[in-house]
Amino acid sequence: MSNRIAQLVAELNEYNYRYAVLNAPVISDRAYDELMRELIDLEARHPELIQPDSPTQRVTSDLTQQFPTVQHDVPMLSLDNTYSEAELRDFEARVRRELPNEALEYVSELKIDGVALSLIYENGLLLRGVTRGNGVQGEDITPNVKTIRSIPLRLSDAVPFCEIRGEVYLDHNTFDAMNAQREKNGENPFANPRNATSGSLKLQDARLVAERRLSFFAYAFRTPDAQPSTHAEHLERMAALGLPVNPHRALCDTIDDILAFVREWEEKRPTLSYDIDGIVIKVNSIVQQNKLGATAKNPRWAISYKYSAEQAETALHGIALQVGRTGVITPVANLEPVQLAGTTVKRATLHNAEEIQRKDIREGDTVILEKGGDVIPKVVRVVKAKRPKDAVAYVFPETCPACEAPLVEDESEVAIRCVNPQCAAQIKGNIRHFASRTAMDIEGLGKALVEQLVDSDLVRDVGDLYGLTLEQLAGLERMAEKSAQNVLDALEASKEQPFHRVLFALGIRHIGATVARTLADHFHSMDRLRETPCEEIEAVHEIGGAIAESIHTYLADKDNWAIVEKLRKAGVALASEAPADDAPKPLAGKTVVVTGTLSRWGRQQVQDLIRALGGTPTSSVSKKTTLVIAGENAGAKRAKAEHLGIEILDEAAFVEWLEDKGA
Ligand code: IVH
Repeated sequence: MSNRIAQLVAELNEYNYRYAVLNAPVISDRAYDELMRELIDLEARHPELIQPDSPTQRVTSDLTQQFPTVQHDVPMLSLDNTYSEAELRDFEARVRRELPNEALEYVSELKIDGVALSLIYENGLLLRGVTRGNGVQGEDITPNVKTIRSIPLRLSDAVPFCEIRGEVYLDHNTFDAMNAQREKNGENPFANPRNATSGSLKLQDARLVAERRLSFFAYAFRTPDAQPSTHAEHLERMAALGLPVNPHRALCDTIDDILAFVREWEEKRPTLSYDIDGIVIKVNSIVQQNKLGATAKNPRWAISYKYSAEQAETALHGIALQVGRTGVITPVANLEPVQLAGTTVKRATLHNAEEIQRKDIREGDTVILEKGGDVIPKVVRVVKAKRPKDAVAYVFPETCPACEAPLVEDESEVAIRCVNPQCAAQIKGNIRHFASRTAMDIEGLGKALVEQLVDSDLVRDVGDLYGLTLEQLAGLERMAEKSAQNVLDALEASKEQPFHRVLFALGIRHIGATVARTLADHFHSMDRLRETPCEEIEAVHEIGGAIAESIHTYLADKDNWAIVEKLRKAGVALASEAPADDAPKPLAGKTVVVTGTLSRWGRQQVQDLIRALGGTPTSSVSKKTTLVIAGENAGAKRAKAEHLGIEILDEAAFVEWLEDKGA
């Protein structure tokens, strides 16, 4: 029995390696699944025989509560960036100056645009996967890392200890498919593969991470044992151990070789199936690397050359107007679909009327697009030479495209907005915001359903959501009874959301999640907030005049208050538990930093506790910090606090101290 299990594990791991690392599958998915099923079955009957590197162990955990913080043995530095050939020449000249009369060799590699990851292997078995974090300490995301099929659970050689560093990324096809699915589900698409990768690695459920189909390239190797003497050999060693190493690299003797590689890949970049944002150049000899050393942030033996954002040219068919939930009108360009940085682009934001005028963008124009580091592609400029003769300057409409109410120019924000509170587009936007993950988190209430609910007049504001019945929901097109019930369950569950979330969910202008929390912490209830004069709200730390004015005006409006009353009737939380005024406030006036992992409380919980006890939680240690609570694996922050002579309590001492104070 154990023989068969071992055989299946070895065989499946080999097939997996050929599929995920070498991109050369040797058996069909179906045959693979059959063997996998046999293994699952055997392991279920003999759990004592489950091997740590069994492919069934790639997705094991259920919900991970929180990722522990761990310290990197060797800090994860970042690379100094260059943006021009001249800067690159400077780098190479500096290296030559530092190592006079030495023969030099460099390795040029692709700079993969993903998320850095450190892997620890002991006796050839994957022990831990840790994010870069702040470079000194990162998060232990091992259960998620194990779902990445190109990362071997067992190396081909039982090296006693080694650390592998590399980049997790999503290839273009996977990214496109994932975003298409998200749009279908009414979820916001990810801006780019890097954001999607980083979001995926932080998911709390490894089963969801597995669905994301992340990939990995290894680029650094460290072991205390006998080391190869060059970086190039490190790369070969990693490949021999079964790790995916990017094949596109070159040994360069001179700066001209390096520049040739840089230019070659600038050209070939669009042919890759994943994003790169530049080239990394590394001194090949490890002895020379050590001689050159590092600054606090960057090694002196390596540098990156960053490419500028990719551009594409396409036709702009028309300008459409989107009405946001606050009534702001955003013009959007509908484009002839074009490939840009690996994904298909059909739309680009035009920001506002002023932008269209400044760039003189007209329907029918040919435009140059660019995808910067951020979200949606933008129109850089118009190719005037290709402008059709009959193209006319764009005239911004005077009425709302959704409700036809007259539009109003908002001097303070360069925005043009629809100020009709009954505007269907705004109502829909508001409901979507209310239901969104960071607000009331109502699963299943996505874009399509909100459209249906508002268009069929079942819902006019967020207060109506809680009056929906099973018949009404199940009566909608494409809505099965089961899904209808799920939506009702999600609505019911959302009544448990704390008051600050409800306040944020209302979508009041200027009231973001943080401001909502501050207000809830101070006033504890919607009623109290409504009765409080504007000046008093403004007096709260971190609350400015615009915020105070906005919340005051909103709550004073009788239509808005009617919505609040509907929520109250439904049982939504409109107050937080205010500690009784005579409750002890032992942390009053203290600025508190929590670092490391605590056993009694999660991150959020301990911050709430600090607030409830009168303290102010902050994230970084400075001279203003008065107390540091240090949990397991507290690292840099603890050290800094020691250095500054700030009071430090470990978890047990903190609890004892609280009890002492009668809290
Ligand atoms: S070497 C000491 N090589 O770029 C720094 N980094 O700031 C060692 N990256 O976040 C990094 N591709 O994750 C190196 N071939 C490559 C890389 C690479 C991508 C990332 C790395 C880091 C950033 C540099």
